[in-house]
Amino acid sequence: MKIQTRKIKLLPTEYSSFRPEIHEFFLERVLPKSQKILDPWAGHASFLPYFELGGVSAHFNDILPIHYFLNQAKTFHVADSVLHSNLGIIAKHHLIELLAPLDNYKLTISAKWMDDDILNIFTQAWNEIDTSPEILKIFSRAIVLLCVRPYCSIGDSLNPTWLKPGGMCTGENVETIVSSHIAKFHDFYDTVYRDVHPEKVNHNTITFSLSDAEFIDLNDTFDTIFTSPPYCNRLDIYRLYNPELAFLGALGYNVSNPNILGTNIIKDFEGNGEFTFIQSVSPQTAHFLLNVRRLGKRRENNYYFRYHCRYYSKLFRSILKFIGTLQSGGSLYIVVQDNRHRGEPIPTAEFLIDFFTGMGLKAQVLFEALRHHLGKRNVSSDFPAIIKKHKESIVGVEI
Ligand SMILES: C[S@@+](CC[C@H](N)C(=O)[O-])C[C@H]1O[C@@H](n2cnc3c(N)ncnc32)[C@H](O)[C@@H]1O
Repeated sequence: MKIQTRKIKLLPTEYSSFRPEIHEFFLERVLPKSQKILDPWAGHASFLPYFELGGVSAHFNDILPIHYFLNQAKTFHVADSVLHSNLGIIAKHHLIELLAPLDNYKLTISAKWMDDDILNIFTQAWNEIDTSPEILKIFSRAIVLLCVRPYCSIGDSLNPTWLKPGGMCTGENVETIVSSHIAKFHDFYDTVYRDVHPEKVNHNTITFSLSDAEFIDLNDTFDTIFTSPPYCNRLDIYRLYNPELAFLGALGYNVSNPNILGTNIIKDFEGNGEFTFIQSVSPQTAHFLLNVRRLGKRRENNYYFRYHCRYYSKLFRSILKFIGTLQSGGSLYIVVQDNRHRGEPIPTAEFLIDFFTGMGLKAQVLFEALRHHLGKRNVSSDFPAIIKKHKESIVGVEI
């Protein structure tokens, strides 16, 4: 199977993708021996096309509904219908008609992400789409979600994302915005599925869910788990998708952030109980946390201590939950990245190995490579002038 490393960014927040070697690792060493794969922290589901095209059944879970809806639209099933019928054109006309009233509104400056009138137009469009045939519904929902950002208010948010080009408030009209997002999806479909013969694809193998990985309840088992949690770098996934989540929250989806792995909003988190849990499952992680506490300004429960404590307790608790869905003889692969805190290394891969070894399991680093940050961006490409400082690793575990 061809390796698809070219990344089509559907949202401006899709700032990173796995480096090509991780794709290769997956294709050469994981996919051939898997029949049924779980990804409990699915994100943009970069490997989704491989699963589908490799005839492997897969389940993608993520806590954020934005990923749930966009990932559904990334399947071959939807791509094939859009590329080989008039579905894309029908969706475009329908969406332009539904969203046309937005052209009457000027940009607003508000503490709310969305002006009430604008929210109403989006909500009505979403509900109207709900009555469409399944594939049209999946595709149109994804396009509506991509259209939300340019209609958000300029807020008093501290998040610089909103001021970046390609972020919100482009000043374009509905027709241009809808058309450009449909074109992006076309580009994605064309790049990923161009050479695929429909008969080679088993349509019913990909499923999706929307839950906290720590409490995932699938009533199913898998021979492989291949996944990547948010990294321990204080990037708050929730904030990246604030406008879209504000809209989905208004529709009734659960978009609260306390259960997000790696959120940096931790004011309600009391670290000590979870520290005891971490001590019991990974002494090495506990040792790191004690160093963080020591380096903090206040000895007890400083911000960084609580942030890292919450991160690792949730990481370990989530793994303990979803590892229960692995069949005997199955394998678990977790892609993680290290970091530093005030000069101290944060070797997440080593913490995981300590954790799995404590459970009596054989765990090892199967692949590692350096990556670098370009400004605020996480960049996987190999540009020699930039110093690479973060190690990305695949930790493998046999059950
Ligand atoms: C690093 S991303 C995964 C990247 C992905 N493998 C890809 O190919 O793009 C981690 C994902 O975990 C999700 N996440 C965060 N907290 C979660 C939780 N408690 N349960 C499930 N998913 C969660 C985030 O929404 C994010 O999409």
